[in-house]
Amino acid sequence: MDSQAIKQAAVLLMQAKSVCVSTGAGMSAESGMPTFRDDETGLWSKFNPDELATPQAFRRDPVKVWAWYRWRRQELAKIQPHAGHITLAEWEQRVPDFVLVTQNIDGLHHRAGSKNVLELHGRLDVARCTFCDYQVQGLEDLGPDPACPLCQKRLRPGVVWFNEPLPGEAIEAAFDAARRCQVFLLIGTSGVVQPAASLAGVAKSMGAAVIEVNPNATELSYLADAIVRAGCRDALTEIDAAWRRMAS
Ligand code: APR
Repeated sequence: MDSQAIKQAAVLLMQAKSVCVSTGAGMSAESGMPTFRDDETGLWSKFNPDELATPQAFRRDPVKVWAWYRWRRQELAKIQPHAGHITLAEWEQRVPDFVLVTQNIDGLHHRAGSKNVLELHGRLDVARCTFCDYQVQGLEDLGPDPACPLCQKRLRPGVVWFNEPLPGEAIEAAFDAARRCQVFLLIGTSGVVQPAASLAGVAKSMGAAVIEVNPNATELSYLADAIVRAGCRDALTEIDAAWRRMAS
């Protein structure tokens, strides 16, 4: 791993009073959650998002769409946060203003202890009614075609599909955090899905230093002042070790 980039990232983070982190599917890859766009292993190389991750797909064939999310929920129940998730939770305690924005729906940041998490794309462990306000959290098996216990209408995954609006408050808070941060940390995202992909550019335009942690180059690499071309689990623990050495 590039020790110069690790040290550069640690210095930037150690000096910052305000940090905004943006994580994507690559953050959870080393916990066993597949990403979306990695060649061969990404979900979109095996499944068609138009048939499984849009409101139109759910209207067309709700049982098929629910079956796919039911499988993903079963997979999520088998995995744990890794050392990188735990490191981010520790940094939240160390930095006065620390906001974690995630596109991930797996809830692993919460399970690792992060508190100030803005979830832009919802949660896989939530199912909600298509008609009333009922929703249920947890990963128990709800069956092949679950109905709302209050109004008997169909339940759907508590995630944000393509062509759906994102949670307004979370988005607003995410752009506020990007505007005020001194360091913006991009972890495990290809940077192709909006509006999350715009956050780094907003931070940069306001004078923040941008750090990218990703084994591959992305659409946002050009913005980075420091690039750690490695998996995030080891990269984050190495940055943390360098930070602790310099702070001691
Ligand atoms: N550590 C860090 N990054 C990794 C790792 C790892 N161990 N493994 C893979 N990556 C990187 C890949 O190089 C890629 O840049 O994670 C990124 C994953 O990109 P995508 O699969 O496109 O995931 P993401 O950017 O989160 O997608 C955004 O698209 O389909 C929608 O709603 C879905 O939230 C998702 C959104």
